[in-house]
Amino acid sequence: MGYKTRDWRNSMRVTLDYNNMTDKFLGDKGFTEKKLSSYASKANAAFKYVKENRGKDELYMGWTELPYNQKEIVADILQTAKSVRKKFQYFVVLGIGGSALGPIMAFNALCHLHYNDLPKSKRKGPKFYVEDNVDPVRMRDLLDVIEPEKTCFNVVSKSGATSETMTQYLIILDLLTKAGVNVKDNVIFTTDEKKGNLKKISDECGGIKSYILPDGVGGRFSQLCPVGLLPAAVLGIDIVGLLAGAAYMDSICNKPAMRHNPALMSAVLQIAAMEEGKNIGVMMPYSDNLKFLADWYCQLWAESLGKNETLDGKPCNVGQTPVKSLGVTDQHSQVQLYTEGPFDKVVTFLSLKKYGCEMPIPHGCENIPDVAFLGGHTMEELIQAENAATAYALTKAGRMNYTLWIPELNAFTLGQLLFLFELQTAYAGAMLNINTFNQPGVEEGKKATFALLGKAGYAAKKEELDSLPAKDEKCII
Ligand code: PA5
Repeated sequence: MGYKTRDWRNSMRVTLDYNNMTDKFLGDKGFTEKKLSSYASKANAAFKYVKENRGKDELYMGWTELPYNQKEIVADILQTAKSVRKKFQYFVVLGIGGSALGPIMAFNALCHLHYNDLPKSKRKGPKFYVEDNVDPVRMRDLLDVIEPEKTCFNVVSKSGATSETMTQYLIILDLLTKAGVNVKDNVIFTTDEKKGNLKKISDECGGIKSYILPDGVGGRFSQLCPVGLLPAAVLGIDIVGLLAGAAYMDSICNKPAMRHNPALMSAVLQIAAMEEGKNIGVMMPYSDNLKFLADWYCQLWAESLGKNETLDGKPCNVGQTPVKSLGVTDQHSQVQLYTEGPFDKVVTFLSLKKYGCEMPIPHGCENIPDVAFLGGHTMEELIQAENAATAYALTKAGRMNYTLWIPELNAFTLGQLLFLFELQTAYAGAMLNINTFNQPGVEEGKKATFALLGKAGYAAKKEELDSLPAKDEKCII
């Protein structure tokens, strides 16, 4: 990839087009210049907060430095990936949440959409699976299609205490042991350097190959560390290009003025829209490759911004519900609602200027005008026209929408998108004056699960659950 030349980098720049958020296009439903300008000082303060706290592990802001501080780790990962590709037929990531959505997203974005169905000669690496659930049927079905002794299992967990991931690990451990395989030969951990159960397990087994999930990097901000880089490298994805793209976007966003900083402007647009009751943020890529980027983004935005307390301890209930939608597929499902339903959404389009191929549409059915007009165009033209038409229809209906333009999809542009969304989330959290990097709201459910399964130390929680009133039969119909 030519990311070393400035011209190439600039030709690959991801840009933000927010015309369809303004009164020029939306009339009285859009933002005036004056309204947007009223956010300038708030935006400036958010920029300053993020800049001043960059790299601080104690604030979970270590992710800002990932594009710059991993030279040796990247070299090690590339080496490991090479031997994994040589030795194994299958690569399975065991993880959940931030430990899984990144690998799924990069796999889908940059690999063949039917990668696992390709013959071995056409794949760059082993067959690839990410198990991010504890549905027993899914585990059974995975075991039907892999051969454990020919599989490299990448167990990804910062804490090593996540029930879902550790359940999967126990199943795999049992299978490998029964097959007479030394766990060390088929397992790689990605985990906290010092704390956590995977560290203990590794020590007990005499040292399982382990990559570090750095202290100051939370799960949902971890795609650009070994969590995402190892699976990506095994798939033959250009991880150096991914990090170069992130660094490039970081440099673009190193500007305090929101009108020159796409991540800051994007955060301002969302916050301003939220303040006007747009509590739903639709992420709508017009690309099957980016379908799971929308999933990854949904976790980042929801878990980071959905909070009930400000940094100074005041109660609040903030956040915007992210919704994933796929163009053009969801034009035939969701777009009716987006166009005519409540004025409670902002749609972000992820639009490709150039697809991986054009796919010409042959001429045919010449006596049927409804069909014949398609002949001679390409599928690329069709999907781009439908994207433009949906943006037009939403705008005409007074619906806020904006577009991130992607010159083409590659590791460099994907790296830009990831960093842009991470910065946007950090800026938005700073504007909301909340802790963007914790997730206390998921703890209660975890504790209740522990109690239900009899984990030591959760007897009081079990009692609390047992003391709930009995279900009223009247309410079960
Ligand atoms: O974003 C997060 O922090 C979470 O989604 C975690 O990644 C997820 O809960 C898994 O945690 P762990 O890596 O400790 O297994």
